Amino acid sequence: MAYLVSAKEMLQKAEAGHYAVGHFNLNNMESIVAFLEAAQETHSPIILGVSGGSAKYMGGYRTIAETVLGFMNYKNINVPVALHVDHGSYEDALNAIENGFSSVMFDGSAYSIEDNLVKTKEVVKRAHAKGISVEAEVGAIGGEEDGIIAMGECADPQECKKIADLGIDFLAAGIGNIHGKYPANWAGLNFDVLDAIKKQTGDLPLVLHGGSGIPEDQIKKAISLGVSKINVNTECQVAFSEAVKKYYAEHKDEESKGYTQREIFKTGIAEMKRVCIEKMTMFGSLGKA
Ligand code: 13P
Repeated sequence: MAYLVSAKEMLQKAEAGHYAVGHFNLNNMESIVAFLEAAQETHSPIILGVSGGSAKYMGGYRTIAETVLGFMNYKNINVPVALHVDHGSYEDALNAIENGFSSVMFDGSAYSIEDNLVKTKEVVKRAHAKGISVEAEVGAIGGEEDGIIAMGECADPQECKKIADLGIDFLAAGIGNIHGKYPANWAGLNFDVLDAIKKQTGDLPLVLHGGSGIPEDQIKKAISLGVSKINVNTECQVAFSEAVKKYYAEHKDEESKGYTQREIFKTGIAEMKRVCIEKMTMFGSLGKA
């Protein structure tokens, strides 16, 4: 029988081994298929992330956990797989803890640091009682909302230490990274801040959000400075979208049975899988299962 694992051990191994495990966001059934096949074929550990919005779209945390496990059993997936809440509210985190997830992120970055610490502590207590790993966040990670791109903040290393001391399993700390596409005038990752955070947090695995579109040299440097988990969503979604667009542009839908959903999404799955393998190769996690 397939089972999900906490992300704690896989990230401790990555931190010690100087590579990073990829976190890929689930948005539909097709993404589950693409990412699990990619991990199995390359013997790579993997973290599947689910945002609150995605959880609503896909039928809630319990449905997603059972679907992922069902698929793992069906396809004999035996590499380590963590099913993780991405940017969860306090309610999302507690909900997922009770509904089959093996890892949760509580994103308290919008709260004051004091409130963030209180809420994170409670999530840690409830998650650890069930062997579930916890990611916390300090320093908001920017991104595009309503056409306006907010530049990523840098986290305060002292605040990182305070949250690390709560016994969390890994920490997302802003270092100038943002979600979505990077603007042309993006200044790049702030490695001085990353270095300062690492000095305060010791061997705690660090998480880099906004992994789409960061140049390979910056990814490699971030890993060398202690990043052990890298989140990717946008590049996989764009790859899916482009594949389906091409399908229609080539009028494949007009060929025999070309209008069926299974045919339309086949190329989208293949493209998401290709991007996933490309990223895992860059992160150095191939063969680490
Ligand atoms: P991107 O969409 O920029 O790849 O970021 C993903 C992410 O950080 C999810 O938490």
